[in-house]
Amino acid sequence: MTRIFSGIQPTGRKHLGNYIGAIRQYVAGQDRGEAIYCIVDLHAVTVRYEPAELRERVLDTAAILLAAGLDPDRCILFRQSDVEEHTYLTWLLTSVTAVGELDRMHQFKSKSAAQRELVSAGLLFYPVLMASDVLVYRADEVPVGEDQREHIELMRESARRYNARFVPDGGPKSLVVPEHRIPQVGARIMDLQEPTRKMSTTVGPDEGRVYVLDEPDDILKKFKRAVTDSENEIRIGPDKPGVTNLVDILAAARDTTVEEALASLEGARGYGDLKVAVAEAVIDMLAPVRERYVALRADEAALEAILAAGAEKARAIAQDTLLDVRDAMGVGPGRTA
Ligand code: TYM
Repeated sequence: MTRIFSGIQPTGRKHLGNYIGAIRQYVAGQDRGEAIYCIVDLHAVTVRYEPAELRERVLDTAAILLAAGLDPDRCILFRQSDVEEHTYLTWLLTSVTAVGELDRMHQFKSKSAAQRELVSAGLLFYPVLMASDVLVYRADEVPVGEDQREHIELMRESARRYNARFVPDGGPKSLVVPEHRIPQVGARIMDLQEPTRKMSTTVGPDEGRVYVLDEPDDILKKFKRAVTDSENEIRIGPDKPGVTNLVDILAAARDTTVEEALASLEGARGYGDLKVAVAEAVIDMLAPVRERYVALRADEAALEAILAAGAEKARAIAQDTLLDVRDAMGVGPGRTA
């Protein structure tokens, strides 16, 4: 059976890009294979953060994922720091990762430029921890948005290098080289105010991003104010980033193709109609998630219990891989000792 793995940063401010690019594919993954999803609190400490808030944000994220349709009976949902094998494997994989590769990562460049006080070593090592997240489960597929493509390439390279160096004849101690699964529509949702930049949790003002937990009225307002262009012609193309983004969001929210979304707009009287159509489709998609979230978030004991049960299942898989890797690398007493 296909094993699917993905990770998501802990924040209560998950946005439309996260939802369309990733969270929806996590939900669909439960029907396609063995699905494992992780809230990556250890990645969150690589930039400046508030310790008192981190734990809360993990629970916010868990509640969003459950509200979106993750079902603890059909997937493994857990908190990264509860499964220590991830960090152990990170160290082992540093031996097959070149500093130059880490230093060239776009996300490292942009995130390090944004740090005022300190560019942590953790920020540089971020992709190695991410590689370990996936490789420790020997996952086949990784559902992500377009912005993670480079990180997935790096983890594939790490797996190949580990296999070539430590398991040259192949065999059970090999790591699986995973494939990314980037959606056809909505892989890169752009900021509503600056449609040449991806929608992001940290960059730009709130008007440019729609949060999963936004009230319907706010969603409508944000779409009505979305930046387009001066033509009033509904057409997609690189010269029309604002309109292209809105059509893309419409198609993704309705779960159709871009062509079908465009065809449905034939009678539209311009950008006003387009914006209302997109807002309505997004509200229909997100309103039930927001409603379910409230009750789920209120029961912290239940959320912790789900994460703990998930961690236990995850650990059983991760431990087995780590023992193999340690053994192949000559670290520790050996698997059978
Ligand atoms: P994070 O939490 O920033 O984002 C979660 C997912 O949302 C996708 N995404 C987008 N998709 C479409 N349009 C956008 N504007 C947009 N913005 C974000 C991301 O591609 C991601 O899939 N490094 C990861 C977390 C991670 C991970 C992993 C992912 C840690 N370990 C192992 C996969 C496998 C991150 O920061 O995601």
